[in-house]
Amino acid sequence: MQTKILCVCGSSRRDSLNQKLLEIAALGATQEGGAATHIRLRDFQLPIYDGDMETAHGLPRQALELKELLAQHHALLIATPEYNGGYSGLLKNALDWMSRPTQGGPSGVQGFSGKFAALVSASPGALGGLRSQIVLQMTLSKLGLLVIPDAFALSRAHEAFDEWGQLKDPAADQLAREVGAALVRRAGTSTNGFRQASHDGIHSGESPTRAVN
Ligand code: FNR
Repeated sequence: MQTKILCVCGSSRRDSLNQKLLEIAALGATQEGGAATHIRLRDFQLPIYDGDMETAHGLPRQALELKELLAQHHALLIATPEYNGGYSGLLKNALDWMSRPTQGGPSGVQGFSGKFAALVSASPGALGGLRSQIVLQMTLSKLGLLVIPDAFALSRAHEAFDEWGQLKDPAADQLAREVGAALVRRAGTSTNGFRQASHDGIHSGESPTRAVN
């Protein structure tokens, strides 16, 4: 079965450095035999999470669409910008809506549980947005996602890409692709039922892995 990777960027900016980096990491996923689906959160136009709105109207259509996309994929490849040491409100808002249950349905968190995630980040700064990855890891782990240790933070990102959106440094290109490839390998072994991963590492345990058609 082909491993399906949902690629999400925490920035919807037209010339987003993170989106460029995400696309390169996704190439690594497809080179490894996975199938990558790219979405832009801007296209979903989610309202800011509001509990009263949820009580009155249930989940917005766009949140249901995102939940359905999650259900159709084995793993998430996420690029996150760093905003003041954390990750973007755009991404947090999407995760918050997606974590909510549909009316009469199971817990929203169940949609994330047991799936894999890998992170990349890009920033003009010296740390490449690394702090945002740490904060995001905490949220994703809380949701039950298994965040793989393979990650890449691209520093001085405003100088790193050429006019075609390719990384000028072959070593950086390789590192970014390797994150996508590692995600396919991890999620693929789980998908094929050979092994499953836990936070303690790979083992032949019984952690739940959701089926994807
Ligand atoms: C930033 N930026 C930033 N960079 C960083 O390395 N650490 C930080 O804490 C912050 N904080 C921050 C806050 C806000 C509100 C903005 C708008 C920006 C800079 C940020 O990394 C830069 O704008 C990136 O280019 C944003 O990512 P995209 O849109 O290029 O993907």
